[in-house]
Amino acid sequence: MNINIAKEKIFSKGYLDIEIDATLDLFVEIERLKKEKNAVVLAHYYQEADIQDVADYLGDSLALAQHAAKTNADMIVFAGVHFMGETAKILNPGKKVVLPDLKAGCSLADSAPADAFKAFKDARPNHVVISYINCSAEIKAMSDIICTSSNALKIIESVPYNQPIIFAPDKNLGAYLNKQTGRNMVLWDGACMVHEIFSLEKITRLKMRNPGAKLIAHPECEESILKIADFIGSTTQLLKFAVKDNCKEFIVATEAGILHQMHKDAPGKVFIPAPPNNNCACNDCPYMKLNTLEKLYLCMQYELPEIIMDENLRVTALKPMQRMLDISRAAGLVG
Ligand code: 13P
Ligand code: SF4
Repeated sequence: MNINIAKEKIFSKGYLDIEIDATLDLFVEIERLKKEKNAVVLAHYYQEADIQDVADYLGDSLALAQHAAKTNADMIVFAGVHFMGETAKILNPGKKVVLPDLKAGCSLADSAPADAFKAFKDARPNHVVISYINCSAEIKAMSDIICTSSNALKIIESVPYNQPIIFAPDKNLGAYLNKQTGRNMVLWDGACMVHEIFSLEKITRLKMRNPGAKLIAHPECEESILKIADFIGSTTQLLKFAVKDNCKEFIVATEAGILHQMHKDAPGKVFIPAPPNNNCACNDCPYMKLNTLEKLYLCMQYELPEIIMDENLRVTALKPMQRMLDISRAAGLVG
């Protein structure tokens, strides 16, 4: 297909809408394309199971950023959401970064529009800005240091105790970190739609029916859920805890995609998705789940849609990203 027609198709839908021969084995085709194009497929745990299985590297946001920073591939195929692709591009100006679906955004990143955040920051000129990686490149460019859920404590501790801090965009993670560190960071009022929807009532009832089960939760969850959690951590930390802990049953309060890896890494254990406060009873991130194996194959084949970024923006956003990677390296942190 002509590349201009392909680009036009992406403009309307955000991904390539091309019929694929039903007899093609996409697992084989994706492996072929990886070799042919010296491409690496990085995937987040919230991706559908087939994508996790075909990925070269699967991880939490810190691990994925660390991997993107050191890859020798010519093309980075990011099976995740837009801010993750942007992060890879910030770290790799010379490489092509493609995403299966350009419309795979993030409700948390969307909760911090650049103009409103600039006004918020300008009103607090003596504050250091620490931003969670789930934000746009524009917000990163206005930040002093980036963090993820697995390194946030170390990042905050790298700032002198009496230094005022703005934490953006996740108010739940920020409130949790304020409690952990005894600080009083000013919090931007943003949240993730998936982690905000868990029902305290339903989880409490589930715990009563399964008294032997431990509740493990991502720190993007609301305080009421975190209060009753037995363990709190990033996706990788939740996975490692579930594998190592003696307990055989876990209620998992994060996006349901992580259960695929939990079942693989701890086959004898039981994992129950924490019930949300909605009727469909699913904890899927509608953005993460926009990516499919078919879209992944097409984006590798046509090298589209691609993440394109203004160079000034990239260079400015790189500084706080680099600070995060340096602090994490010095602290021996890997995602
Ligand atoms: P981590 O995988 O870094 O814990 O992040 C979770 C998340 O919400 C990604 O969108
Ligand atoms: Fe964003 Fe939440 Fe989806 Fe993660 S799970 S990509 S934070 S909307």
